[in-house]
Amino acid sequence: MIPLFSVSMSADAPAAVAQILGSGRIGQGAKVEEFERALGAAIGNPRVATLNSATAGLHLALRLVAGDGGPGGDPEGEVLSTPLTMEATNWAILANRLRIRWVDIDPATLNVDLDDLARKISPRTRAIMVVHFAGYPVDLDRLEEILDEAEARFGFRPAVIEDSAHAWGATYRGRPLGNHGNISVFSFQAIKHLTSGDGGAIVLPTDEAHERARLLRWFGIDRTADRLRNPPDVLEWGFKFHMNDINASIGLANLAGVDRVLARHRENAAFYDRELAGIPGLELTERAGDRESSFWIYPMKVEDRESFMKRMDDAGIMVSNVHERNDLHTCVREYSALLPNLERVAPRVVCVPVGSWVTDEQRGHVVDTIRKGW
Ligand SMILES: Cc1ncc(COP(=O)(O)O)c(C=O)c1O
Repeated sequence: MIPLFSVSMSADAPAAVAQILGSGRIGQGAKVEEFERALGAAIGNPRVATLNSATAGLHLALRLVAGDGGPGGDPEGEVLSTPLTMEATNWAILANRLRIRWVDIDPATLNVDLDDLARKISPRTRAIMVVHFAGYPVDLDRLEEILDEAEARFGFRPAVIEDSAHAWGATYRGRPLGNHGNISVFSFQAIKHLTSGDGGAIVLPTDEAHERARLLRWFGIDRTADRLRNPPDVLEWGFKFHMNDINASIGLANLAGVDRVLARHRENAAFYDRELAGIPGLELTERAGDRESSFWIYPMKVEDRESFMKRMDDAGIMVSNVHERNDLHTCVREYSALLPNLERVAPRVVCVPVGSWVTDEQRGHVVDTIRKGW
């Protein structure tokens, strides 16, 4: 079976971990700092705080921009978000005791539909959550224009949180994500381009937000203070979301080779773009010249997904839609909304193996199987 996902683990990782395990210090320490410096250099923004997951990063991001709503929550406060994502994106909104307002998706990109988003900004909007689905960047300049309009109309500018869990290495207008004035959250979970075993990072637009994130990821306690002789006061309670040196050492080992991993995802995607273009009834997603996807997954839209999936399965190719729409879950029933694009497109989305483990021969087999069955 050609897997849809596989772990990209550096051969140097076991020795790096062994060194930490034998060092007498395995918690958050020098390796975490080294990993953060290296991530900051790769992104081009040094304001990085590593965490134990992207899920933690999304919880923290919403806390930074919207608070937890205070006692009893903010009964009116809404976060605009996409339903086509991993549940982690949206459950962070609920955890911060805010309401979800679903925004429809753009069928061309599978990202949020920015026109629908513009229509749904209101005085109740506390934040906007966007997901760079599959690693394909949202049009961040258009989003800025929408925020300018909202500011002129309502007198405030909702904060944007970019869920970049799929998007390590993706660029928008020539710069890596994490550089566009918003909070951006990356995932280093097992099957991402860059894995630290499990882990994530929050990347901040200002020094002040960075400092606050660093405090709130560990109870609100300043780890740089002399906690024995002069224990620091906690001004704002925080979480236990930090990364440890074991995970950081895995992340550092993998960071050294991540550009090769990313390049192979992109090569395989370019092959599919070429070989699958123009097949009637099979729609690829948009490619705009001003952004470069990380192609964590390779989504396409097919008419009869069930028989497509059966055919691929019979040919030894693992395929999946990867993420189920989030808005149909019982726990978010109260936020249900009419989402015509999602309704039409979600049942047709399917992803084929595109990662660095997919060989030339295997990607050829994927294309042949699709063409033969058409
Ligand atoms: C879009 C999206 N956001 C958030 C997450 C959560 O990432 P993590 O597993 O690092 O918490 C995922 C996980 O795959 C994801 O796909």
